[in-house]
Amino acid sequence: MAHGQRTHTCGELRLADVGKTVRLCGWVHAYRDHGGLVFIDLRDRYGITQVVFDPAAGAAMHALARELRSEWVIAVDGMVTARPEGTRNAKLATGDIEVRAQSLEVLNRADTPPFEISTPDAVNEEVRLRYRYLDLRRPVMQQVLMLRHRLNKIVHQYFDERGFIEVETPMLGRSTPEGARDYLVPSRLHRGCWYALPQSPQLYKQILMVAGLDRYYQIARCLRDEDLRADRQPEFTQLDVEMSFVEMGDVMEVIEGFLVRAFGELLGYHVSTPLPRLVYNDVMRRFGTDKPDLRFGMEIVEVTDLARSTEFRVFQQAIEQGGVARGLCAPQAADKYSRKRLEELEEFAKRYGAKGLAWLKVEAEKFSSPIEKFFPADVQRSIRQRFQAQPGDVLFFVADQEKTVCDTLAALRNHLAAELHLYRAGEFALAWVVDFPLLVWDEEENRWVANHHPFTSPLDEDLPRLENEPATVRAKAYDLVVNGYELGGGSIRIHRPEVQQRVFRMIGMDEEQARKRFGFLLDALRFGAPPHGGIALGLDRLVMLLAGLNSIRDCIAFPKTQRAQDLMTGAPAPVDIKQLKELGLA
Ligand code: AMO
Ligand code: AMP
Repeated sequence: MAHGQRTHTCGELRLADVGKTVRLCGWVHAYRDHGGLVFIDLRDRYGITQVVFDPAAGAAMHALARELRSEWVIAVDGMVTARPEGTRNAKLATGDIEVRAQSLEVLNRADTPPFEISTPDAVNEEVRLRYRYLDLRRPVMQQVLMLRHRLNKIVHQYFDERGFIEVETPMLGRSTPEGARDYLVPSRLHRGCWYALPQSPQLYKQILMVAGLDRYYQIARCLRDEDLRADRQPEFTQLDVEMSFVEMGDVMEVIEGFLVRAFGELLGYHVSTPLPRLVYNDVMRRFGTDKPDLRFGMEIVEVTDLARSTEFRVFQQAIEQGGVARGLCAPQAADKYSRKRLEELEEFAKRYGAKGLAWLKVEAEKFSSPIEKFFPADVQRSIRQRFQAQPGDVLFFVADQEKTVCDTLAALRNHLAAELHLYRAGEFALAWVVDFPLLVWDEEENRWVANHHPFTSPLDEDLPRLENEPATVRAKAYDLVVNGYELGGGSIRIHRPEVQQRVFRMIGMDEEQARKRFGFLLDALRFGAPPHGGIALGLDRLVMLLAGLNSIRDCIAFPKTQRAQDLMTGAPAPVDIKQLKELGLA
């Protein structure tokens, strides 16, 4: 590579270079002043090289070296020498050599940084985000960005090889409800009119299929004004894909090939395909969530029937009110959960809406628990059998409305698995979830809403029931789940205008409203739309999983906080009244 002002990078020199005169540039990572010799660890993106300033090599240079502090930017000319035996550093790629400085130039001084670049992770996230340029100097952060770069390269290579073309779609579009909240941009030329930033390229990619592009992909920026979490950002990136003349399996096969390539090339991890396909209803029953972590078992067990036969009022009441009782068996957890820690678990359960968390510790002959006395002997036997419980296990139960039971046990399952180390770092469990309901009933809005989005096709055999039994209609939709995260989601789309109209009608949109909002799509479908379908993967989430991180903020160069702020630039911020006037907003 061309090194510009330097002859080598700070990660490059080895024993073979001994005797060469070199010029290195970089940041002062660490300095040690031994009175006589001054040692500097010089850092750049490529690594760290030790530089030695000897008073014998020049008094002025040595004096200047003694002034150096963390994060000053310097250029050093010097001679590569082998480090004396016993001072070699096997942890550094350059650890066999050092550079004996002959001249030193300070290119820039630095204020004392608010945190040491060399201390990993210990720093408060707000400080890191405010000084993101310092945070991004940390080798771990640079490694994530490099991983992301390599992932993007694989995306381009793979999809190109498979005959896809990348097409860029607009950032300024039309607000189309049904989805998350839009970010809106006022139009200067059209007073009172607004653009919406894209929540995804969904409609554009469908229209590209109508246009005959056949196979599209894009690394696409998406914007959604929604409540943020560790795996959600207001601005995020999708690997967006759409294909013509395909069924579900075709889209899945393309994505599986991509995952094999990405995990293989980036981690040396073998993803075996085809991935398991799990049915939504089963997944909800077994794991309480549509994005189960499949690295461990500890499945949810139905006990409504048994709970009826106990004398435990709490269970009986919940069931009388139309609820269910379910539980899970935490293997060999009895010793780890003292009374105090069980109370903490109960508090955890209550955060998900449960009224409490009943537990039974399994012993050889009996259960130990304050509520054990409410469980007749035969019920105890049945419970033991149904959970295949072993002495030392702990059984946890929630009785409530089904949704609350699912939410609570799903969260508890993940929580317990982490605490009990039921999976190893570096392990991945990937699967598809299929057969989602097309529509779900929205209590607040008092109407059916699309479970994915309203362009998702119903299963052909379910379509006749769309109007009469909407709850039973399944979608040609598939989600990709990895280690308890929803990594991607997609579907086969509706390509016939009359089916699209029927679905719009079902979600409470009459012809006129549909025309007003999605007229362009309905028109396009009328001009020879091919059958088509696609998917989008959350690229930030994929990087997070590949890098073994817990927060997508660590996978994005300039992320927003939980409150959607950029602490470095101070966005969002008020603007000049003049700007507002130009937009007709003042
Ligand atoms: P969906 O809304 O499921 O589908 O999004 C696809 C994937 O994008 C990721 N994702 C996010 N990542 C970070 N922050 C967010 N706020 C965020 N929201 C979503 C997730 C998710 O699985 N147009 C459809 C796809 C299609 O049908 O082809 C869509 O956007 O990993
Ligand atoms: P109580 O009778 O309220 O003292 O509750 C006895 C135990 O049952 C406590 O461990 C509670 O956490 C638990 N409990 C209370 N309500 C429920 C519920 N709906 N589902 C499961 N456990 C519950």
